[in-house]
Amino acid sequence: MKPQMQPPSSALLLPTIQSSRATEAEMTIFPHCSELVSEVRLLPLPVVPEPRGNLTFIEGQRHVSFDIARVYYLYDVPSAAARGGHAHKALQQLLIAVSGSFDVTLDNGRLRRTVHLNRPNIGLLISSMIWREIDNFSSGGICLVLASLPYDEADYYRDYDTFLNAIG
Ligand code: TYD
Repeated sequence: MKPQMQPPSSALLLPTIQSSRATEAEMTIFPHCSELVSEVRLLPLPVVPEPRGNLTFIEGQRHVSFDIARVYYLYDVPSAAARGGHAHKALQQLLIAVSGSFDVTLDNGRLRRTVHLNRPNIGLLISSMIWREIDNFSSGGICLVLASLPYDEADYYRDYDTFLNAIG
């Protein structure tokens, strides 16, 4: 069966995404910053629906614009815990709520928005130089991350003011 690109349901996503015909522009997290359109966006992922269950797949350079160099996932996260709290100099990532839900707060140095992820067929693309905080994990929530580069501590900004200075 041919994979279908399933548009997001309005019940699941950002207030700015009102309809199942959401355009790519409507799916940007900072829609009023045209120069930032590609920085952070929600990506509908392919779904192969079957009576046996759904299957979603992601290929580097096809569904994400980078080669996938690393996969990691956050799980068993206490509901009161916060992950992230950093930005990356070069790393690009795609975050997916493969189970349950969580919030991702994104900050490009000028705007800050919180996205609630709760669908395994929606990815949140975060380019470099975006501060992110991840919290409000549901019970059983799993955050799957596809990353463009291997782990490198030197790629992190872990201090918010240092990040802001780097943004300029
Ligand atoms: P960190 O990226 O700060 O996690 P989060 O953003 O979820 O809060 O990483 C937490 C720790 O795990 C840190 O000591 C680095 C280590 N780590 C790796 O060794 N490899 C990896 O790929 C990642 C993402 C983290």
